[in-house]
Amino acid sequence: MKIDVISTSPLKYATPALVIGCFEDGSDELFTACDAALDGCLSRLAATREFSGKLNSTRLIHTLGRLPAERLLLVGLGKRDALNDERLRQAAGNAVQALRAARVANFASALPLAGADTALEAACEGALLGSYSFDEYKTKDRAERFLFEGMTLLLPEGIAGEGRTRIEKVRAVCRGVSLARDLVSHPGNVATTGYLAATARELAARHSLSCTVLEMQELEKLGMNALVMVGKGSVEPPRLIVLEYRGSDDRSKPQVLIGKGITFDAGGISLKPGPGMEAMKTDMAGAAAVLGTLEAAALLKLPVNLIGIIPTAENMPDAKAFKPGDVITSLSGQTIEVTNTDAEGRLILCDALHYARTHYKPSVMVDLATLTGACVVALGHEASGLMGNDRRLIESLKRAGERCGERVWELPLWDEYGETMKSDIADLKNAGSRDGGSITAAWFLKQFVGRTRWAHLDIAGTAWSDKTRPCSPKGATGVGVRLLIEYLRGR
Ligand code: BES
Ligand code: MN
Ligand code: ZN
Repeated sequence: MKIDVISTSPLKYATPALVIGCFEDGSDELFTACDAALDGCLSRLAATREFSGKLNSTRLIHTLGRLPAERLLLVGLGKRDALNDERLRQAAGNAVQALRAARVANFASALPLAGADTALEAACEGALLGSYSFDEYKTKDRAERFLFEGMTLLLPEGIAGEGRTRIEKVRAVCRGVSLARDLVSHPGNVATTGYLAATARELAARHSLSCTVLEMQELEKLGMNALVMVGKGSVEPPRLIVLEYRGSDDRSKPQVLIGKGITFDAGGISLKPGPGMEAMKTDMAGAAAVLGTLEAAALLKLPVNLIGIIPTAENMPDAKAFKPGDVITSLSGQTIEVTNTDAEGRLILCDALHYARTHYKPSVMVDLATLTGACVVALGHEASGLMGNDRRLIESLKRAGERCGERVWELPLWDEYGETMKSDIADLKNAGSRDGGSITAAWFLKQFVGRTRWAHLDIAGTAWSDKTRPCSPKGATGVGVRLLIEYLRGR
């Protein structure tokens, strides 16, 4: 979608659709002016309660030549005092989804940008995120496929010039989110471990990052047995993908982002039940978020040194597959009794965490993983689980979540949770009781981070949405990209 910024009066601007905001409690100047131009049509809608300005409501009307805009899209903003960036972002997201439903490909937005000085970013981001769609596998009605063409942001005098650079930055972040969404949307037979590696190489070529992919032989030689074992039941070989972005010339230690890249999780020999198993193509959403974040960071030229590490494998049942009872010597040397092959995420991550910590001596490590069903039970689909070993890091991630609208919720990580993860035969087992499942999983990971500052995000409930949300049409959400970028900006 092309984006333009112009400072002009919305009342004089010709466009197929003009988006304006409406408050529940009283109307602003623009609303009143539009109402007057339409002979009181808007106040009539309010009087009859056909449109009340409630948050996340929209209403499209034709202007029949009484305004230069052919249509008006009214977008509810809720109570005037409660308006903030997130509400504005959601309003913009709802607006584009209503425009898509009406197949209006060009529009202008005059949402109020008074309040916070990041309102322009929020309005633009909401529109870009809400306009996402994925229809690569639809072959029918190709010709009628709807694509947005252009959005014009109508700004008050004075900020149009600087507006352009600010919008380019928003675009960069949304590019990263779209990449993550695309990767998660692709089915498991397309988005294989090799596909993730090829994507990383492409990113590296396009944004001058450096990319290394460790193949099976090297993984075996290094002793990344936990990663290798998980991949053994699949014809798609496991890989370790490493992407490096150097945005800061000083020799400061890098921050490492690690993403779980299980391209399909059948559960292995501890096979998952059939119904809903197709959703397990999303088990590489952590990897997708890391790739999206690296792309966005590079486009934004963030002044940080960043390493993305993706352990990737397909978890399948097979004669060659690893099995319950097997004991693995992980890269760190710690031995793990496999009590459930479906607890595979922590296995590939434990080797990646150890690799990251010993190779890069990072200042910080953050991992993202669709790690546990228990996290979905605990938090549903409204927040990612957050745990870690460093108060400052956890608090920074919480603040980033609040600012960008990707919610996180901290769970405790007390030592007592580790009791059920101790094995009779090895140092650890990979699955304990079901109780406190997302915490025991994080506790397992913690055994591999040493003293490195580390945080873990369980995105099992947030990587995919069965319902349409204001800034995220049904399906892959791209969760993690905006959160990490906001965190890396260190505001
Ligand atoms: N990939 C799943 C977790 C998951 C569940 C992600 C639902 C997204 C939605 C993970 O590998 C898994 O199977 N975890 C098991 C762990 C258990 C065997 C200890 C789980 O949560 O049941
Ligand atoms: Mn699993
Ligand atoms: Zn999994």
